[in-house]
Amino acid sequence: MTELTDITGPATPADPVAFPQDRTCPYHPPTGYAPLREARPLARVTLYDGREVWMVTGHAIARALLADPRLSSDRRRGEFPLLSPRFEGVRDRRVALLGQDDPEHQRQRRMMIPSFTLKRAGGLRPAIQRIVDGLLDTMIEQGPPAELVSAFALPVPSMVICDVLGVPYADHEFFEEQSRRLLRGPTAADSQGARDRLEEYLGGLVDAKARQSGPGDGVLDELVHQQLSQGTLERADVVSLAVILLVAGHETTANMISLGTFTLLQNPGRLAELRADPALLPAAVEELMRMLSIADGLARVALQDIEIDGTTIRAGEGVFFATSVINRDPGQYDDPDALDFHRPTRHHVAFGFGIHQCLGQNLARAELEIALGTLLTRLPGLRLAAPAEEIPFKPGDTIQGMLELPVTW
Ligand code: HEM
Repeated sequence: MTELTDITGPATPADPVAFPQDRTCPYHPPTGYAPLREARPLARVTLYDGREVWMVTGHAIARALLADPRLSSDRRRGEFPLLSPRFEGVRDRRVALLGQDDPEHQRQRRMMIPSFTLKRAGGLRPAIQRIVDGLLDTMIEQGPPAELVSAFALPVPSMVICDVLGVPYADHEFFEEQSRRLLRGPTAADSQGARDRLEEYLGGLVDAKARQSGPGDGVLDELVHQQLSQGTLERADVVSLAVILLVAGHETTANMISLGTFTLLQNPGRLAELRADPALLPAAVEELMRMLSIADGLARVALQDIEIDGTTIRAGEGVFFATSVINRDPGQYDDPDALDFHRPTRHHVAFGFGIHQCLGQNLARAELEIALGTLLTRLPGLRLAAPAEEIPFKPGDTIQGMLELPVTW
């Protein structure tokens, strides 16, 4: 599991491989993706329902196609490919922002951008530091050992996104559980039920904010008092945005903190280097983003025929982007399976690319730098409290991360 090289096996490019697959090591693409790594820049894969779709595996083509308006993110289109049967329910929903194409996407994105600039994220750093320090105080008081996901990796981004949005953190057990079921529930009905409950909860919050005479200071308050009240967004869009922001705002970053910590602990040379030179932290976060590619399967459907690299993607065909494979394209990154804080990592696609590139990336980077940096400084003896092979991680059809992370110090 600790090996950083030689993770490709013999290629069998003739048959489409199944997608997604579970990782064999949580910080490497599944060994079953070896044929995809051989078949750059485009391959065919089969989904759970037997449907064949395109898989983008090459870095340059990924960026070209992610910026191509002939690929749609609209989940309501019948041909939109799904990663898992549990997401069937999204076909009936209008998903704001993430599920919109331009020009509507651009209209909504413009409303959101001022709340997620680099400057805004920078202004949140002192609050993030307080949250991180408070959680570590408690963890240190109660331990060692500790279970890092529940004690730290999950509550950090949950508390931060509650602050940012204006959602009461007191409700965190409810929304964390529903987010988990939405992304990883065993059935479509379970996932759909979780989405319904989140919409009902956030809809209630939106209505309560609308009844207040003056705006509070969260992003949801801004949406309610600037967009909903002016009629530039409908209630359903505000609620859908609230669900996306709340779920994307805590699940993804929590997984990066847990899996990032695990990866560093499994790579003691890099960990020592980072401890010796904390100025490497921003580069380390970026390299971990590339290496871990936790959102490993971005979906689109072709609206028209697209000629690319001598291949035609036909209108109506599904297209996936395997970020874990794209971010290890040897044409873009030397020795791509190595964790290297000195390589130029810019241009990785772990936050996506093009019009849907992650809205929360400035915030996520600030959280990761503060969470990982403070954890390593305050706990110089941090280590795993169980054999690495026994620590459970998430299956391949969801955002990648650790299910649990027992640590001691
Ligand atoms: C390390 C943590 C994160 C990762 C790996 C991540 C990853 C991504 C990726 C890959 C996309 C593009 C999806 C696509 O093209 O289909 C995306 C979009 C998005 N992310 Fe993140 N994200 C993270 C943190 C956050 C946070 C903290 C927030 C909330 C504040 C957020 C909110 C969003 C939103 C709203 C979109 C949709 C943007 C649009 O459609 O214009 N993300 N994210």
